Amino acid sequence: MSIPFITAEEAASYIKNGDNVGFSGFTASGTPKVVTVALAKRARELHEKGEPFKINMFTGASTNDHVDGELSRADAIAIRTPYQGHPDSRKLANANGMHYFDTHLSHVSQDLRYGFYGDIDVAIIEVTEMTPNGEFILGAGLGMTPTLAMMAKKVIIEYSSYYKTSFRGFHDNYISLDPPHRREIPIYKPSDRIGSTVIKIDPEKIIGIVPSNASESIKPFTAPDEITQKIGDNVCHFLAEQLRTGKMPKEFLPIQSGVGNVANAVLYGLGENPDIPQFEMYTEVIQDAVMHLMEEGKCKFASTCALTFSDDAMLHFMDNIDFFRDKILMRPGEISNHPEVVRRLGLIAMNTALEADIFGNVNSTHVLGTKMMNGIGGSADFCRNAYLSIFSCPSVQKGGKISAIVPMVSHVDHSEHSVKILVTEQGVADLRGKDPVQRAQTIIENCAHPAYKEILWDYLKLAQKTGGHTPHNLHAAFSLHEALMEKGDMREVDFSIYG
Ligand code: COA
Repeated sequence: MSIPFITAEEAASYIKNGDNVGFSGFTASGTPKVVTVALAKRARELHEKGEPFKINMFTGASTNDHVDGELSRADAIAIRTPYQGHPDSRKLANANGMHYFDTHLSHVSQDLRYGFYGDIDVAIIEVTEMTPNGEFILGAGLGMTPTLAMMAKKVIIEYSSYYKTSFRGFHDNYISLDPPHRREIPIYKPSDRIGSTVIKIDPEKIIGIVPSNASESIKPFTAPDEITQKIGDNVCHFLAEQLRTGKMPKEFLPIQSGVGNVANAVLYGLGENPDIPQFEMYTEVIQDAVMHLMEEGKCKFASTCALTFSDDAMLHFMDNIDFFRDKILMRPGEISNHPEVVRRLGLIAMNTALEADIFGNVNSTHVLGTKMMNGIGGSADFCRNAYLSIFSCPSVQKGGKISAIVPMVSHVDHSEHSVKILVTEQGVADLRGKDPVQRAQTIIENCAHPAYKEILWDYLKLAQKTGGHTPHNLHAAFSLHEALMEKGDMREVDFSIYG
């Protein structure tokens, strides 16, 4: 059967109001880039005629402006999961203009296969190569593509000619059997290949092939500044000490690193620190920093779900692709983030917090407990099961008006039971083996900004008057957040009213 080439507009016309639509890719890389723009245009035209048009969006993780941006601005999204990171999508989620539920990235493929969210009516899948017998080579990100290719009733292929060199061999496509038949995932080191380099899609269900020539449009991360560099240094000194004191195997352990500016700075720090040995990564994204670490010989291998390279870095990668061929494997998010593998390999998991409380609970997602930033992403897949779970963030935000260390987090993503180490530019709090009061003392002393230390000590004293194993004064627990909302600065907090 020959599959027709069609236009983006023709492809978009096959998608109906209320359809469950799955998208290839992960953190922008490997996501569709042209059909979604046509789909947004179609949604606007239908809205202008007074007709409803919204789809339910299932992605590997965040996408790019071509997907979340376009469809959010067109008000074409009814349900969105599992993760977004686009300003327009964030705006829609916070205005309740779509039903956004953020969930663990490793869960979504299996939740779809379990039937929790119904069928996938259409999948839009970006590929970089195809063969006449229905075999496809994906692009720079996998996400949920193997599950989508298997489940979708209909598939639209976006055939990208942007990549001039072949991605063949970089992918490890794999789908676990579902319970009660599931077996172990046979990954015993980051470089173990368990799946196929290609995905197969039944040609009968492919609607057509849409040509595309767009880049991933990923902007470079901000270069590390004084604060993020200090955080990176603190993490590195801490890890070097773990090695010296035998708390970590001398071979070192694979690294997982989260997204964002702080995560990027930590990676640069690892590269520069002579006490950190060569390492491997088992992670969900690799950013520009990892490519440089590979070229410097510091990072030997990376298992990932996506190559989240900025456009310039991607061009550099393509020019030097043969150097990277035996150093990178891309896997579905279900496997790159799988708790079983994370626990087995003993990862050093490094993720970022918006705020942490003095007892070690972490909020990664909600500003002032209500406004969604991005989502939990893969952070919990990793941190709960890692050998060492590290969270880091600057100790203050917005010129000191916000302390990242607070009495009680305004939203909990990672509980005190999963957070082992907290790091700010001020220092490192090792929470292992400490009771709640000891954790509070360590966090205030080592991680809080000097402008907030006395405030947090005052809170702890106040809370201890109430007593309990985890001392809190429930009237005052959010008083720093209240001071921010009412007076614009957490330093304006006043505990005297609580006696
Ligand atoms: N209150 C209010 N605003 C805060 C804040 C707080 N406690 N902490 C940070 N912010 C603001 C910053 O001021 C900044 O705002 P700006 O964009 O206006 O400058 C913004 O949030 C981002 O902060 P930054 O310090 O630059 O963080 P980042 O780029 O390193 O991202 C997270 C931090 C937490 C948003 C990001 O890592 C994330 O979404 N994590 C959750 C998902 C995850 O961990 N995925 C990885 C798993 S592998």
